Parts: sequence; C-alpha cells; structure tokens
Amino acid sequence: MDRPPPKEAVEVPVEDLRPGMYLVDLGVQWAMHPFLYNQFELDQPSIDKIRAMGLKQVRIDPHRKRPPPASEAKQAAESSRRRSTRAKNDDGRQRTRQITQEARSAVRDLLRDARAGRALRMQDIDAVSEELAAALREHPDTMLAFGRLRSRDHYTYQHSVNVGVLLMAFARHLRMPERHVRALGSAGMVHDIGKVLLPNGIISKPGPLTDEEYQRVKEHTWRGAELLRETPHATPLAVRMAEEHHERIDGSGYPHGLSGRQLSIETRMAAIIDVYDDVTAIRAYHRGRPPTEGLRIIAQDAGQGLDEDLVRRFVRCVGIYPPGTLVRLSSEKLAVVLESCDRPADKPRVRVIYDINAERTVEPPPTLDLYRGHPGHRIERSEDPASWALPPEFFL
Ligand SMILES: [Fe+2]
Repeated sequence: MDRPPPKEAVEVPVEDLRPGMYLVDLGVQWAMHPFLYNQFELDQPSIDKIRAMGLKQVRIDPHRKRPPPASEAKQAAESSRRRSTRAKNDDGRQRTRQITQEARSAVRDLLRDARAGRALRMQDIDAVSEELAAALREHPDTMLAFGRLRSRDHYTYQHSVNVGVLLMAFARHLRMPERHVRALGSAGMVHDIGKVLLPNGIISKPGPLTDEEYQRVKEHTWRGAELLRETPHATPLAVRMAEEHHERIDGSGYPHGLSGRQLSIETRMAAIIDVYDDVTAIRAYHRGRPPTEGLRIIAQDAGQGLDEDLVRRFVRCVGIYPPGTLVRLSSEKLAVVLESCDRPADKPRVRVIYDINAERTVEPPPTLDLYRGHPGHRIERSEDPASWALPPEFFL
C-alpha cells in the first residue's frame, strides 16, 4: 500500500514547487493522478502536470535528499526486477493497480515514440498483455472495475489499455484460444495509435469538432494501420483492428464503409468494446456513466451498427450489473457491485456504501454476498451515480 506522508512533511503552495523537492502527498487519490507513485522527487514536467491539475497546495518532505540520478538502464533493470519479484500473494487490488499502471506506462511510451517517429517496440506491449491476461484470470472483477478510471489528460492510453483488457475478458468468455486472447489484448492496446499522428489540438479539443476536424479524426484509423504495418512484431490482427474499429456492420462506419461479414469477429468485438468503454469511463472530474448505461447504449445499436449476437454475448460476459455499478437495494441502501462473474446475474457481491433513509454513508461499509443469503437486500435497480453525491473512489 502507499506510504503515509512523514510527520515532518510541510505544505507548499504549488507555485513555489521547484525541481529536486521531494513530494510526499498530493492530496489526491493515487487512481486520480497521472503519476506512477504518490511520493517522488519533482522535476519540471511533473511540476507542470501538478499545476495543470489545478491543485493549490501539496506536501513535500524538506529533509529528503535528492537521490543520485538513475541511468535509464538502471531504471529498466529496476522495473523488470519489480515485475519478477512481485509478491505472489499480493492482494488483488494492489496487483491489479500495479499491472494496469505498468500497462498504461508501456502504452504511453509507445504512443510517445510513435509521435516522435521513433521505432516502435511492440514486444513491450506483448509483454504487458501477457501480464494483464494473468491478472485478469486471477482478479477479473477488480480489473474491470479499476480499468474504468481515467485522468483528464491521459485519456487515449488509459482507454487503449482498458479496451485491451475488455477484449481479453470477452475473448475468454467466447472460449478463444489463450494465445489469441493475448494477441487481442495487444491489438486493443494499440487500436487508437493513429491518434498520435493527428494535430494535438484536434484530439484534445474539449468542444464539438467542426466537419473538417471530424474528417481529420477519422484518419486515425488508416494512419494507425499504416504505422503498424511498418512495425516489427505488430500482428495482422492489430493492423486490422486499428483500421476497422470504427467500421459498422450496417456499412455506416469509417474509413471504408465495410459491412457485415467483411468485418472480422475481432473487429466486431472491438467496435462494441470501444463504445462501451468510452461511455463507462470514470474521469477524474466526472463520474462517467454507469456500466448499465454503457450496456443500454450498445444494446440500442445492436443489429444496426453493432453485431447483435456479439452484443448479447458481451452483456453476458460483463453481467447486467458489471463491477463498479451502483445499485439500489430493497433495504433502501446503495451498494457498489464488486463481483459478478460466474454467479446469477442479480446476485453479485456488493459493498453497501449509503443509507438512503438516514441520508449518510455507511461506515465502515459492509460487504454482502447476495448469492449467499441476505434476502432483505435484493437489488431493485441500478442507479446513476451522478444523482448521488458520492466520490468516484467509492466505485472501486
Ligand atoms: Fe478510434
């Protein structure tokens, strides 16, 4: 777990931060900030990021000495040591968090290299895909709930990793061979790589796009495919997914307007997941829409843009109350779904977080396994978290 800030930590206004200071507390949950660690030595880029987050003050440790600079090779060795010595009995959340973060870093680096025109190391993506596949097998629910978290500035690579994870979960559900499951994970993680080749102003534009800008955005499909075609170790599956993930079975998609069986099953799976993940993402300053809303939106398009049979199977894969869903119980309590795999759809394991009648959070929040009794706590319906003033971390 994260270390608590030391007692001698002092609060410093963000405008006074300087490279070399040692940050010990941002005052923001780990999942909600873009850094790998909660405590680290500041450099100018990290100070810029902290300023961009809009924070007023953070805590630093004034006694902490600046460590000698680590060479890149040392850092690489350290990261591979961390991977190989990761304790086997790690609690699921910790392990999930760590692996997801490693995957996000790998995809971020790959996108950075793509933008800079450097050679792409697809092997790194294959390596994290293997780790994600293993973690997904051990902790599927934590993995799916955690993957929904996004920070404001890093949407593309966080989305890419989760598309990879969801594709692997779906492929396993469809009983695809394990090698193919991992290949799908890698392909999912690079499906949007073409976005880095477009002007940054268009990709991160907050408001609606002009027609001309939208035409440019569409280019990320074939440009990404072109880039991957030239990349050693990128599979034909990854090339095709980059090119076709916005195609729709009724021919309404882009860039080629392909339809029906012209689209591979993997492309049709990716189209569903791309939409579902975008709808259900929890942004740092925005709760996102609940998983049930994501399911409703893909169900609406089933049989038109999206493959109807695959949509049905995907709903079965993530469950009607996927992990992270806020539900209302017959006991007039709100609960968050923790686990829904391999059990009746209406009997997940949940954490009770809010008492509606008493209008207060439940402390400490008890965990109930609705499959093992608790008849007084039936699920009545899912609730939109936006209607309740609950912090996003409640949904982990
Ligand atoms: Fe895309």
